[in-house]
Amino acid sequence: MQKKTTNNNTIQRGAKQDLGVIICEGNTPNHLNFNFQIAEETEVKVGEYVEVPLGLSVLVGRISSIQSYNEYYTDPEFVKYHIARGITVDSRFPTRSSRWRVAKVKVVGIVRNDRILPPEDAPEPGDTVYRADTRLLTRLLGLPSDGLYIGLMRGNNAIKVLLDPEKLVRHHVAILGATGSGKSYAVGVLIEELLEKNLPVLVIDPHGEYSTFRQPNKNPEEIERCQEFGVTPKGYRAVTYFPKGLGKNGGGEITINMSDLDAYAISEICGMSDVQSDLLFLAVKRLSEERQSYDAETLAEAVEEAAEEWKFQKNTILSTLRRITVLKELGIFGEGFSTREIVKPGVLSIIDLSEDMDERVRRIVAGVILQKVFQSRKRNEVPPTLIVVEESHRFAPQETNTYSKRQMRKIAREGRKFGLGLCITSQRIAGLDKDILSQCGTKIVFRIEGSYDLEYLKPYLDYSSTDDIGRIPLLPNGIAITSGVATQHPIIAEIRVRRTHHGGTGAKLIQ
Ligand SMILES: Nc1ncnc2c1ncn2[C@@H]1O[C@H](COP(=O)(O)OP(=O)(O)O)[C@@H](O)[C@H]1O
Ligand SMILES: [Mg+2]
Repeated sequence: MQKKTTNNNTIQRGAKQDLGVIICEGNTPNHLNFNFQIAEETEVKVGEYVEVPLGLSVLVGRISSIQSYNEYYTDPEFVKYHIARGITVDSRFPTRSSRWRVAKVKVVGIVRNDRILPPEDAPEPGDTVYRADTRLLTRLLGLPSDGLYIGLMRGNNAIKVLLDPEKLVRHHVAILGATGSGKSYAVGVLIEELLEKNLPVLVIDPHGEYSTFRQPNKNPEEIERCQEFGVTPKGYRAVTYFPKGLGKNGGGEITINMSDLDAYAISEICGMSDVQSDLLFLAVKRLSEERQSYDAETLAEAVEEAAEEWKFQKNTILSTLRRITVLKELGIFGEGFSTREIVKPGVLSIIDLSEDMDERVRRIVAGVILQKVFQSRKRNEVPPTLIVVEESHRFAPQETNTYSKRQMRKIAREGRKFGLGLCITSQRIAGLDKDILSQCGTKIVFRIEGSYDLEYLKPYLDYSSTDDIGRIPLLPNGIAITSGVATQHPIIAEIRVRRTHHGGTGAKLIQ
């Protein structure tokens, strides 16, 4: 039975706010869990961090649920009687004195002299619970003072959420959620912060929504909220690139050098069968042995030579050659591009793939860019960089093996060593490659509606985020749960407003 208190006084001791008192309930308090009765008129939120002094140490926990109780409303007959007569229960009885709220808390750690210790002792029933101290919490969550400012924490006095760029970039990040939940907006926030630190960012942009990065935020509602978050509208240096022949006005043009593609990539664009791919593979092997830079014509010649040597059937040769003509028609091939020209400190480079083009072309362009930036980073020709792949399920689908997926996997697995980070976004989580998803050390999760997507994601979330799963389908736009390498423990944050103008708002149906 829960014990009742009518603790009306919310005591403020220094900056510490008394939130309530630990009670005995079930087998709690123990070293991992405790429940406390929330003081009257005190606001606490699920997900908020609290502390309990334990001698020289401080125990820190996170509220996993809140339950409220009132004895006057436990008997349905009694409540029905009042409803039928049109009288409220509280007009007849002192209901306020009989209600209480209990917060269930999971211990996350013990801090002693700035050191974090594992939970090893239980708090006492009757101990006072306080809102976690900002400094203590910042220490526990590993938030650096000069990190990337992504938003304000819900509860806990709206602590600024500052993520360590080293952890975030090196260990990759996945930004997941339903369409319109705030993913691209948050990517924009991250990019602004990285550009402020003079790092380069490259974004694969299938919706063409990042070119507005040059403009300061001009959305009146967002400008109004700038003060709340302490930001000022501002534009950044951003250059847009289009694949050759698929650009709008302005921006740079990039071409793909055919020799940058491996045989699998060429076979993928041309849609080749297994036997056609076999022949192509032999031809490409020949060319690369001869270290030739080649075009569609030389490739076709190499196919004929390889076919003769390996005795391929005539119809295979003809169909392979026919497939190769696709390469000429695409018009995106040429000299290639230099990553040094594209990746520059403090500049956002946008690869705009929003024009009408074959999805295979989109994937190949993205794949070549990922591949070349990775190679350049290995050779230290470009500075440490973050590559954002929007709509990642399209470039790294779980079901099919694509060239772009192979490049993304490579960066996800090995990029860390070279300071090359991957930021993926997706609203179709169940369609996204598991390997890449599991390599993303930090997850920023917005609202996810589909139970299939949520189930798919569950195994990849931290153990400590499991309490939050039930709330993921209910998150409002712009509020996300961040967990993983960059935060140690999950944080629910309201993503800050952008300094730049967000280009992700579709056209309105009715003006
Ligand atoms: N943190 C935020 N603050 C203010 N508005 C936001 C925020 N996040 C999202 N929005 C609004 O929601 C819209 C959709 O967000 P967006 O990030 O483009 O969605 P998606 O998840 O599909 O990428 C944006 O155009 C913007 O108006
Ligand atoms: Mg988006």
